[in-house]
Amino acid sequence: SGPLRTHAAARGKFIGFAAATSPLANEAAYRTIAQTEFSQITAENVMKWDTTESSDNNWNFSGADQIVAFAAANNQQVHGHTLVWHSQTPGWVQGLGATAMRSAMQDHISTLVGRYANNASVVSWDVVNEVFDENGGFRSSFWYNTLGQSFIADAFRYARAADPDARLCINDYNVEGINAKSTAMYNLVQSLRAQNVPVDCVGFQGHLATQYGFPSDLQQNMQRFAALGVQVRVTELDVRIQMPRTSAKDATQATYYSNVINACLAVTACAGVTIWGFTDKYSWVPDTFPSEGAALLYDASYQQKPAYTAVHNALDNG
Ligand code: G3I
Repeated sequence: SGPLRTHAAARGKFIGFAAATSPLANEAAYRTIAQTEFSQITAENVMKWDTTESSDNNWNFSGADQIVAFAAANNQQVHGHTLVWHSQTPGWVQGLGATAMRSAMQDHISTLVGRYANNASVVSWDVVNEVFDENGGFRSSFWYNTLGQSFIADAFRYARAADPDARLCINDYNVEGINAKSTAMYNLVQSLRAQNVPVDCVGFQGHLATQYGFPSDLQQNMQRFAALGVQVRVTELDVRIQMPRTSAKDATQATYYSNVINACLAVTACAGVTIWGFTDKYSWVPDTFPSEGAALLYDASYQQKPAYTAVHNALDNG
């Protein structure tokens, strides 16, 4: 018994979720679970560039402020997501030349990070997101194609200048296990830190799918990053299944969830785990993978699934 956040705190970890702003404002059942069970919040969408600065210097902080206020009222931390990404970034940014793009990036980071720099709830940021391709090369994004890899170091330096106390993370998917992509990330983090670029933290998104198997070297992978001196964390955990749900698939999914919690518990440098939502009512998965879903801890009627029990038990006794 007792909420997830109590057990996580007893283990020295956060347990977070990605928040959608509409149910956070409008649904009591959503709000109750959000405030009771979790100790950290990531905005699922509303801190991204297309929401916060849809045209140059035209700012919209309403959703971001809503989430920060909710967190403050419930003694929760906020992890900012995300400053520099190739997706959900407006066309006006994508079309800029190199000098203007770098200065737009600096302005965006200074303004957004600076807004919350003295806010006690906002403690960390995803500074760059998904900069690698699956083979371990740099992703061919407008950022990389216009600025080269220097945009990464610049983004971290701008973020540090905007909030010297925030923990600054690099974040990606398909880097949970040891593979070409996670090794590229490892090499980049090592090289950035050798140049005194302020990278404090590595985020493993953790968008898992039962049909692809569990990355059994997750703990070992986290440990090698920890040895570089960075904090690690799981930032966007979900475990999708091929629909429909069955009790066997629920059980497999629950095992994946407890494996992730246990890996974080076993690694001192792992600060915690954020789940990418909590109810199957609100999840990115069916929009992206139409035959898949049911990836989260609660069903669409806010009933706890075996995955909830698995997370709870792992935090309690894992
Ligand atoms: O806001 C518009 C709305 O005005 C419009 O009516 C509606 C019609 O489709 O779309 C709304 O925008 C959607 C937005 O979510 C807000 O709901 C976009 O179409 C949709 O593409 C967007 O999806 C988000 C996705 O990132 C975009 O890449 C998901 O909610 C969000 O969960 C997902 O999160 C990402 C992380 O940020 C980074 N890592 C991967 C993860 C999963 O894709």
